[in-house]
Amino acid sequence: MLSELLNKATEENIVKYCRIVESFPALRSDGILSYLRENNYFTAPSSFKCHGGWIGGNFDHSVKVTELLLEYTEKEGLKWEREESPYIIGLFHDMCKCDQRGFKLKNGEAKVISLHPADTRHGDRSVELIEDHIIKLTEEEKLCIFYHMGVYGGDEDYQIRMAQMMEENSNIGYVQKADTVAAKMGI
Ligand SMILES: [Fe+2]
Ligand SMILES: [Fe+2]
Repeated sequence: MLSELLNKATEENIVKYCRIVESFPALRSDGILSYLRENNYFTAPSSFKCHGGWIGGNFDHSVKVTELLLEYTEKEGLKWEREESPYIIGLFHDMCKCDQRGFKLKNGEAKVISLHPADTRHGDRSVELIEDHIIKLTEEEKLCIFYHMGVYGGDEDYQIRMAQMMEENSNIGYVQKADTVAAKMGI
């Protein structure tokens, strides 16, 4: 029963993912799709309760962040190092969550469970996973993903460096905004 739910979400979300990255064949190679499929990218939740606490919740959150980034790009005339950056950042900034939580069936419902002890690394782990398994990132993409937690992430040193980097690249702030807005929408 649980595996059926997970398989169904995987198949639906793969179709959605391929549609979103339609213009970027490098993001939908067989290798990338099987990596994403095998590593629960299409089924992992975002969190227990705060947002995206359902099968595919982290994917839904990532799609929402992508949509918001594309909206800001259009409205504010944001410039990126490459056209696909808002897609790569939006879709993969929370890659680190894919193996942290999963599901078990309780009274016929999929409940979020912890799979691995919480890894304190977040943006940096996503950067590592993306570069190892998906695509080589631009410097701007790395910074945007590393600092996407904004005021909610990191220690004092992280916050100080983040403030410096945000002065040099305002796209970091738009990524933080998209992430926060999506989470506040419950996605
Ligand atoms: Fe995150
Ligand atoms: Fe996020």
